[in-house]
Amino acid sequence: MTDRPKTLLLIGATSDIGRATALAYAQAGWNIILAARNETTACRNRDDIATRSTNAVSIQALDILDTERLKSFVDDLPVLPDTVVCVVGELGNQERAQWDLKHASMVMRTNFEGPSLLLGLLAERFLARGSGAIVGVSSVAGDRGRGSNYVYGASKAGFSAFLSGLRNRLSSTRLRVVTVKPGFVRTRMTAGMKLPPFLTAEPEEVGSAIFAAAEGSRGRDIIYVRSIWRPVMFAISSIPEPLFKRLGL
Ligand SMILES: NC(=O)c1ccc[n+]([C@@H]2O[C@H](COP(=O)([O-])OP(=O)(O)OC[C@H]3O[C@@H](n4cnc5c(N)ncnc54)[C@H](OP(=O)(O)O)[C@@H]3O)[C@@H](O)[C@H]2O)c1
Repeated sequence: MTDRPKTLLLIGATSDIGRATALAYAQAGWNIILAARNETTACRNRDDIATRSTNAVSIQALDILDTERLKSFVDDLPVLPDTVVCVVGELGNQERAQWDLKHASMVMRTNFEGPSLLLGLLAERFLARGSGAIVGVSSVAGDRGRGSNYVYGASKAGFSAFLSGLRNRLSSTRLRVVTVKPGFVRTRMTAGMKLPPFLTAEPEEVGSAIFAAAEGSRGRDIIYVRSIWRPVMFAISSIPEPLFKRLGL
């Protein structure tokens, strides 16, 4: 008897990190469900993955801000996935978020509210089945609030805390919860930014790290894709507040 192929649900399938993650899973023989709000780009990614693997790749429409529809989105999935990876995110514009509350709210809801509600819902379905892995792509920006991007950072801190609490609650079950902190990644989100090469990963590096953390025999709870980020963020988090507030980061 052959094992049935496993299924990945990728939330945010038009993202560069998402595309690389889906490809890593597809090349390991998984079926893929791509969830995205932009179906044209999702179709392009589906066709790209389909040419490089033989497993099934399908698309589901999803706007993470439409929280009223999250339950029917889960109910309508063709199959309950084995693993869900959520890469949805919005960097936003910090200066704009300081006076445009709609913009600030959109950033907070995209990074925190929507992903947390959806992953929480899927966790209950996985719990009822008795298995499943939940991966949330958060950010090192959530490890300490900085003046230059604290709306984004605070929403990622909330998401990291949600994942931590979920992992804590599910620790005696067979479910896995993984938090991914990619550091800088060369993607559409960081296009035009000057990024230090040794701190900057390629999307493919993130995709492989997610696959290894979620599906490898040595499961990991929290991953910094480039390990240099762990001591860097430890150092940044250890700076006393009176000094930190004068650094203007
Ligand atoms: N790049 C980095 O340096 C970096 C560093 C740390 C963490 N991250 C995190 O990594 C994740 C992926 O980012 P990326 O770098 O690959 O950037 P990206 O290509 O801009 O990906 C962002 C994704 O979120 C989706 N999205 C935004 N709002 C949505 C909504 N309302 N409903 C559904 N989808 C929505 C976008 O869809 P559309 O295509 O429709 O806009 C896109 O697929 C994000 O969570 C980001 O915060 C990135």
